[in-house]
Amino acid sequence: MSRFIPINKPTLGEEELEEIRKVIESGILTSWHGSGPVTERFERAFAEYIGVKHVIAVSSGTAALQTALAALGIGPGDEVIVPPFSFIATANVVLLQGAKPKFVDIEPKTFNLDPEKLAEAITDKVKAVIPVHVYGHPADMRPIMEIAEDSGVAVIEDAAEAHGAEYNGRKAGAIGHIAAFSFYATKNMTTGGEGGVIATDSDELARKARLYRAHGQEEAYKMIALGTNCRMTEIASAIGIVQLRKLEGFIEARRRNAYQLTSLLTAVSGLEPPYEAPNVRHVYYLYTVRVKESFPLSRDELSAKLREAGIGTSVSWPTPIHLQPYYKKTFGYRGGEYPVSEQAAKEVLSLPVHPAVTEGDIRFIAKAIKELAEGA
Ligand SMILES: Cc1ncc(COP(=O)(O)O)c(C=O)c1O
Repeated sequence: MSRFIPINKPTLGEEELEEIRKVIESGILTSWHGSGPVTERFERAFAEYIGVKHVIAVSSGTAALQTALAALGIGPGDEVIVPPFSFIATANVVLLQGAKPKFVDIEPKTFNLDPEKLAEAITDKVKAVIPVHVYGHPADMRPIMEIAEDSGVAVIEDAAEAHGAEYNGRKAGAIGHIAAFSFYATKNMTTGGEGGVIATDSDELARKARLYRAHGQEEAYKMIALGTNCRMTEIASAIGIVQLRKLEGFIEARRRNAYQLTSLLTAVSGLEPPYEAPNVRHVYYLYTVRVKESFPLSRDELSAKLREAGIGTSVSWPTPIHLQPYYKKTFGYRGGEYPVSEQAAKEVLSLPVHPAVTEGDIRFIAKAIKELAEGA
């Protein structure tokens, strides 16, 4: 095979290595409270970038979501609204806190939580809602915030896929009451494989999140609340500082690739390119098309043929959360409950647009798809 274009490729180099070297030479690798000198610099830089007062660095996006729930005091007896079309972490953290995820279906164009279905799902038990900015396209936050604030429900943005995305001119992660980001290896920026942050304007939520991150210790060996260890290392933060500097460049490359691919794919019938609402900045963590029934190949056949042609694809997510074996067994879901999510799971296919993808690669991807569409 002459070339293979992977679906995602972390872009790290000499600058990251240089910062890692400095941390190693400093001898400070972490701290008991989680805000070592480099981590503190990373937190400040990320807070400034998205426009919030507080950023708290943690060990993963999952840890960030769980810390946000803990800071809000969510626990047994509470319910939290989540979309079924997300990575399993979004619902699992609710269960891990002893609370119950309550699913609300998505809207078909952006794959994000449907605000029209949100209001009717809110009851006295519901304490929070977690809109997910799926693939890097922000959820429709204005109606979500209005509905939540009218009913006294907290909004936790799952911005794991949306670094730098914007909604009505505001950055994702700076709109809800608290937000979680992931720096997992494939994300638009990484802290070296794993990592996450919590973002909030609330002094109180930030204080609780910091406590939770360090076993509830107010000072070394003095514990005042229940917590865990989910600190970010100084090396991870050092990588994060460099990646954050590069993020805008990464996003612009992704957007350029996405627009070029869309312009080449719009003529292909049975294939629906991604939608970008006029009031948002999509950051194309994943460039995801719908492979409709009218396309000559099934989604999985198309994916296999593209792989043979040297093009990596992925399916996020092939199974909506409520239909995961564990959720079916625990809660009795059988399918049919959240039809928009279930349909999306059958049709979505992501194509490579990461910063290392060239204009020539995009033409190659589009040509391969067109040939398959025409049965060549
Ligand atoms: C939407 C969403 N939520 C949560 C997570 C969890 O992040 P992490 O893998 O860093 O724990 C991810 C990423 O994997 C994600 O895509």
